[in-house]
Amino acid sequence: MLILGIETSCDDTATALVRDGRTVLCSVSTNQDAFHAKYGGIVPEIASRQHVALLSAAVDDALARADLRFDDVDAIAVTRGPGLIGSLVVGVAAAKALAFALEKPLYAVNHLHGHIFAAFLDRDEMPPYPFLALLVSGGHSQLVDVRSATEMRVIGRTRDDAAGEAYDKTARLLGLGYPGGPQLDALAKRGNPKAYAFPRHRPDAGSLDLSFSGLKTSVRYFLESDAGRAAAPEDVAASFQAAVVDVLLARVDRAFDEGDYNAIVLSGGVASNSALQAALRDWSERRRVPAFIPPPKYCTDNAAMIAAVAYYQRNAVRADALTLSADPNLPFVLRAS
Ligand code: KG4
Ligand code: ZN
Repeated sequence: MLILGIETSCDDTATALVRDGRTVLCSVSTNQDAFHAKYGGIVPEIASRQHVALLSAAVDDALARADLRFDDVDAIAVTRGPGLIGSLVVGVAAAKALAFALEKPLYAVNHLHGHIFAAFLDRDEMPPYPFLALLVSGGHSQLVDVRSATEMRVIGRTRDDAAGEAYDKTARLLGLGYPGGPQLDALAKRGNPKAYAFPRHRPDAGSLDLSFSGLKTSVRYFLESDAGRAAAPEDVAASFQAAVVDVLLARVDRAFDEGDYNAIVLSGGVASNSALQAALRDWSERRRVPAFIPPPKYCTDNAAMIAAVAYYQRNAVRADALTLSADPNLPFVLRAS
């Protein structure tokens, strides 16, 4: 089954062609960073206008790269939410038009499910159910209990900033450009992670919740102090990063103490962080738990992951091309339609 995926929930205009939920024939993503960089963050109106300008060509581009035609496509999958409303409606409108005109089935996908199923792309071996997914992106930080493609439950979430947001805000304090996560990651490679002991959030007994705002504030106060002004930025970056990684791994460890998981899946933009990947690989060896970490191109927003979810959830997410609407607050739990 060949699915054309469309993803426009934030600032990436992405299309992909995926066979049977795992074989990626092509995955095209046009990054809009250059248009948002001077504002230091994503401007929703600019994002949706860029999607309008780019999406149609991105669909043609995906077909051309895979050397396929619309006739070869069996179904269309699109991100319905969560995300920016103005961005989502562009992808949803395009997917509805294609499904209607081509008389192909339409599937409406949750963006966050997409990040989890990115771990199934281009792999011989799939994560065995039940598994735990650590989803860390610019908008979300969650621990998800995944029983099957349609039975997933959020068991831990951030109380304030998402991990990617904490990276981006701290990067800005350090005077780095946007998006800050990858730049902070690169800077931290040259620094000492033990230089400064920034605070690690500890949840109450039994809770798997996360918090990063205390850490970010502590870095800010430190940088405003005399010691902070004299500190090497790479040491501050490495010490901040060490705190984020500690918090995330402490929560994963606790979830495995309490759950019956066969694997850990890391996903979302922050999953490409080098320190987090290294620490998770160590942890997975120590606890003898297989770790599934998608390559960077599938960690950040992409449309291949959306086509994959549609394949695995196809009986639950079939949509009507005439009535489907974008939902910026789409709930995580799948409801039978
Ligand atoms: O999943 P994603 O592409 O978009 C959504 O938020 O859905 O994630 C983007 C986030 C940004 O906050 C970015 O700074 C962060 O992922 N990020 C990283 C790295 N690469 C991307 N954070 C830390 N280290 C990285 N290497
Ligand atoms: Zn995302």
